[in-house]
Amino acid sequence: MNVRDAVASRYSCRAFLPTPIPEQTVRDIVQLAARAPSAGNIQPWRVDVLAGERLDALKALLRPRMSELPKGEGTEYPIYPKDLGDPYQSRRFAVGEMLYKAIGIPREDKPARYRQFARNFEFFGAPVGIFVSTERSFVLGQWIDLGSYIQNVMLLARDYGLHTCPQEAWASFSRTVSSFLGLPPHMMLFCGIALGHADESAPINQWRAPREPLEAFASFQGFPS
Ligand SMILES: Cc1cc2nc3c(=O)[nH]c(=O)nc-3n(C[C@H](O)[C@H](O)[C@H](O)COP(=O)(O)O)c2cc1C
Repeated sequence: MNVRDAVASRYSCRAFLPTPIPEQTVRDIVQLAARAPSAGNIQPWRVDVLAGERLDALKALLRPRMSELPKGEGTEYPIYPKDLGDPYQSRRFAVGEMLYKAIGIPREDKPARYRQFARNFEFFGAPVGIFVSTERSFVLGQWIDLGSYIQNVMLLARDYGLHTCPQEAWASFSRTVSSFLGLPPHMMLFCGIALGHADESAPINQWRAPREPLEAFASFQGFPS
């Protein structure tokens, strides 16, 4: 698959088939993704990959924690600013509406929305869960590098016919996840990434989040007309 097709066909997949992924495939993705650039080439990512029994064990650990703490343990970093403001808040609202509409959950059905949200902690059924962490002391510059790494994982997955979902939802249970993974105290969990074969027939995978037109976010200057 060429890069253009990989970029165009990536989406946040929220229903996976249980089909296992060979370890070598995942190792290749995780290794090659580290060709991502990082300021000063410090490569600020730590990656923990779970499959099989280890993945099942984490999910089992999370289930009772989620009933105890439906809002999670509290994130260690802010996922959004307090006041997101427009146009960002409207975009966020719109994508949420599209997601829940695709699976027939009305806005007022909070329990059903919560049940869907809780699917995050099953990695949406994916057979592989990837966790990306970084040093607690690192600053914005390094967090950007994590983004490059994560995007590489997602695009490389496409080359294997696989799909992904980046998941900051995991940050709301970072205490439990960090302890399960054995992260040292100086490391902070950033996000999870679900990896697997998409369930192409699942209603939740049938829609695509829109993007703004080029003129809305880019300017081009100095090109000869
Ligand atoms: C860092 C990051 C964290 C995200 N966390 C979640 C998440 O926890 N759960 C989820 O369902 N989607 C999550 N998403 C997916 C976004 O909702 C999605 O990227 C956005 O709506 C655009 O849709 P697309 O990825 O399908 O193009 C996350 C995306 C990013 C980049």
